[in-house]
Amino acid sequence: MSQQQFDVVVIGGGPGGYIAAIRAAQLGFKVAAIDEWKNDKGGPALGGTCTNVGCIPSKALLQSSEHYEHAGKHFAEHGIGVQGLSLDLAKLVGRKETVVKQNNDGIQYLFKKNKVTFFHGRGSFVAARDGSYEIKVAGAKEETVLAKHVIVATGSNARALPGAPFDEETIVSNDGALRFTEVPKKLGVIGSGVIGLELGSVWRRLGADVTILEGLPTFLAAADEQVAKEAKKAFDKQGLKIELGAKVGEIKAGKKGVSIAWTDAKGEARTLEVDKLIVSIGRVPNTVGLNAEAVGLKLDERGAIAVDDDNRTNLPGVWAIGDVVRGPMLAHKAEEEGVAVAERIAGQHGHVNFATIPWVIYTSPEIAWAGKTEQQLKAEGRAYKPGSFPFLANGRARALGDTTGFVKILADATTDEILGVHIVGPQASELIAEAVLALEFKASAEDIARTTHAHPSLSEATKEAALAVDKRTLNF
Ligand code: FAD
Ligand code: NAI
Repeated sequence: MSQQQFDVVVIGGGPGGYIAAIRAAQLGFKVAAIDEWKNDKGGPALGGTCTNVGCIPSKALLQSSEHYEHAGKHFAEHGIGVQGLSLDLAKLVGRKETVVKQNNDGIQYLFKKNKVTFFHGRGSFVAARDGSYEIKVAGAKEETVLAKHVIVATGSNARALPGAPFDEETIVSNDGALRFTEVPKKLGVIGSGVIGLELGSVWRRLGADVTILEGLPTFLAAADEQVAKEAKKAFDKQGLKIELGAKVGEIKAGKKGVSIAWTDAKGEARTLEVDKLIVSIGRVPNTVGLNAEAVGLKLDERGAIAVDDDNRTNLPGVWAIGDVVRGPMLAHKAEEEGVAVAERIAGQHGHVNFATIPWVIYTSPEIAWAGKTEQQLKAEGRAYKPGSFPFLANGRARALGDTTGFVKILADATTDEILGVHIVGPQASELIAEAVLALEFKASAEDIARTTHAHPSLSEATKEAALAVDKRTLNF
């Protein structure tokens, strides 16, 4: 059995782990990265949940399904007639697989370029000795590596409903939901969070009759209330059925589909019969097979690896980042933590600003926000000035034929500092970048209002929302 010594070993090759490994290598460390994800041929598939069954494949399917919906429902408005529109689902899903593979291969290339030594297999702690950690890699062959610093980035797994385990055929997590071989006629979804809305939208656009059962009485409770209301109106119009305040009872899966007993918000007992059921009720941190006990690595009450604000665990030299620790389960949060930890190991002052992490939901309309919501500011008793601008009054949005939604800016009543930006509408995922930068630079609404924005562009709605804070919009 070979045993190699490294400065830094990263366990997990998702967005947190692979970025941490690259940054550590850039800083001059000898780095190993271990990841166990297998492609359908048993080979490595770097990029973790995000690349294989998360961010990337979901966005590929969202794009394809949106094209399909546009061709079927919206091209006519542009004077474009489509005859014999058809759907080749195998090809559509196949394209998604190609996009995933391009990303898998891209990360392997980046490892080579940055001289990160990659091990394909499961990494687990063996022991701590002489100021180093011994990590076993169980892959095609068994190897051990030694390192002074270990970064754990083992991600998360989908949470199952008690009594309804995933079979990934009929009751599916995000994994099965990204590779149905037929469009389900009736699709049930439990949970109207980010996955429920994104994947519910994909299959609705492709022809499924989608019902989402959400436990909470409030739709998208984490978003700004006005944004959530506008988005709900749009989803209702599209025919995405969202039942709020639903209490899910017994779930029976048979050959023909799934039967879900549930109680509606009025307390009435109901049954939902569907061909397939997506369960998207959140994710749980993944420490399976890490053998954390061998070295006494502490977990918190949720099963996440316990870390301080700087991602230090209870063990000297052991760090943890991404979905396996506290904080939002987002790829860009994992990446930022990866960079910060590599820099801290190098004695630098790595930093992640949790107050400016953007949230994006890639539905149609897209939803994106950064900073505080109006309800949060009210609860804090902070005096603020709101400014909104509708896409209906934006020339580019009209030209695109997509005028749903608005941009809303919340600024401090006294200093004019931007406290939150909330967008529902076209390209919200791209527009939010300006807002994040503004928050990062502690810009005022006046700063955005006085910045030239290209015309015609959707970003002018952001400028106008900033003008609206001071009640001086020019185009509304
Ligand atoms: P992961 O990406 O989960 O990677 C962990 C890796 O570690 C995996 O490859 C795993 O196999 C490996 N591993 C685990 N244990 C071991 C071990 N012991 N040894 C070796 N390897 C191990 N976030 C966004 O920001 N934007 C989005 O659009 C978005 N879309 C999403 C869509 C879906 C359907 C889902 C499910 C998630 C989405 N997310 C999105 C969330 C995002 O995927 C996660 O936040 C992100 O992947 C977390 O990165 P990570 O590096 O912490 O973990
Ligand atoms: P989520 O936390 O976004 O939503 C889960 C929803 O399920 C909540 O609305 C919750 O109230 C509801 N719920 C929980 N238990 C329930 C029950 N028993 N019955 C009915 N409803 C119930 O989790 P989701 O959608 O599974 O996604 C997991 C994570 O993945 C997200 O937190 C997000 O961080 C990440 N993600 C990010 C994306 C993005 O950034 N665009 C896209 C997809 C996922």
